[in-house]
Amino acid sequence: MKCLFALFFTAPIVNCVQYPWTFDNDLFGGPDFWGLLHGDWRMCTSGQMQSPVNIDPAHLLFDPNLTNMVVDNNVVEAVFENTGQLPMVTVKDTPARPTINITGGPGMPYRYKLHQITVHFGRADEGEKGSEHTVDRVRFPAEVQLLAYNSDLYANFSVAMTSPRGLLAIAVIVDIGPQTSVELRRLTVASQSIIYKGMKANVSHLQPALLLPRTSQYVTYEGSLTYPGCHETVTWVIMNNPIYITKEDLQIWNELQKTESKSSEPSFMTPAYRPLRSLNGRLLRTNINVGYRESSSASCPSNIYVEMGYRANPARTKRNDSLPKRTIRASEVFEIDDIRPVNEAYDSF
Ligand SMILES: *[C@@H]1O[C@H](CO)[C@@H](O)[C@H](O)[C@H]1NC(C)=O
Ligand SMILES: *[C@@H]1O[C@H](CO)[C@@H](O)[C@H](O)[C@H]1NC(C)=O
Ligand SMILES: *[C@@H]1O[C@H](CO)[C@@H](O)[C@H](O)[C@H]1NC(C)=O
Ligand SMILES: *[C@@H]1O[C@H](CO)[C@@H](O)[C@H](O)[C@H]1NC(C)=O
Ligand SMILES: *[C@@H]1O[C@H](CO)[C@@H](O)[C@H](O)[C@H]1NC(C)=O
Repeated sequence: MKCLFALFFTAPIVNCVQYPWTFDNDLFGGPDFWGLLHGDWRMCTSGQMQSPVNIDPAHLLFDPNLTNMVVDNNVVEAVFENTGQLPMVTVKDTPARPTINITGGPGMPYRYKLHQITVHFGRADEGEKGSEHTVDRVRFPAEVQLLAYNSDLYANFSVAMTSPRGLLAIAVIVDIGPQTSVELRRLTVASQSIIYKGMKANVSHLQPALLLPRTSQYVTYEGSLTYPGCHETVTWVIMNNPIYITKEDLQIWNELQKTESKSSEPSFMTPAYRPLRSLNGRLLRTNINVGYRESSSASCPSNIYVEMGYRANPARTKRNDSLPKRTIRASEVFEIDDIRPVNEAYDSF
């Protein structure tokens, strides 16, 4: 293991301090330093295919060969843990309760098994949004990620994580809505049992497929894990619709802390997202067949906003922090049109 101080001092260091990594860039150990913290994490700094990235609707490439993904609808058992950096669900895979398969889509022709679910968020009370991926530079309140490993090629997640075509990650953007999606609500409640670092909770009846929005549309690109070691083995799938959480429930995630026990100066987990990484010429492929309508006016060069599922909360335009780049009137762009009954189940998508 590399010692951090060795980078700055040539004298032999006897007591090498192991710096914990954090998402907080104000701290040593923050995202800018991940690549220096550990010899196996150099990709975090030197990698050129890193995640997360901004999804620019103007640069999507329609790929007619991208098929729909099939995500098993089974109930799984899982352990929910506060790692000190993130709330992380590890899905169990036992003969009695196998984990779910993810097939089709950009992972083709391989079969992937769900292993991990992470939740990313910002300091909600300060208005900070914490999705990792942004859509046209708009950051959303939170993001749920389902990470699966290639079970055709690899024995488990840890081997796949560092191997070619090892992982598939589904990113689900979370926006503010009048009700929290049922499965996200269950995780929200469970998060109250893992306030401090190292705490774990059993989640016995999780139905991960219900964390997905009801759409088959997505954007995909080749990227990396968004936490150390940032291995560039991840095929990302960004679903083209958000799921929803209430302001109150989002606030509950903000109570998670980085320390192992209560301290007089609570050290909150937020921010819990990695800053954007540059695309470096990677393709953003999509199965959204974007139509360019004849009726488009000259001032509206692309209809992609209209076709894209991401239409932000109207409140955001009032706060004027989204700054749409294009010459589309904000009122045409930002509208919520996809709130579905939260308890509506579906088989596949
Ligand atoms: C898409 O699939 C068809 C049929 O399998 C194949 O002929 C075609 O070359 C593929 N196109 C691309 C862009 O891969
Ligand atoms: C996932 O795929 C494997 C291999 O085909 C199969 O044995 C298993 O039953 C599938 N899991 C579920 C939950 O359907
Ligand atoms: C993953 O698989 C590898 C190779 O089969 C094995 O050495 C390792 O112990 C496994 N890791 C876990 C966490 O099961
Ligand atoms: C979680 O389940 C495991 C075995 O399934 C059990 O040993 C453990 O005590 C449980 N933990 C909690 C907090 O209930
Ligand atoms: C939003 O920001 C833009 C650019 O800074 C500015 O021109 C515009 O007046 C602002 N709109 C509102 C409603 O504050």
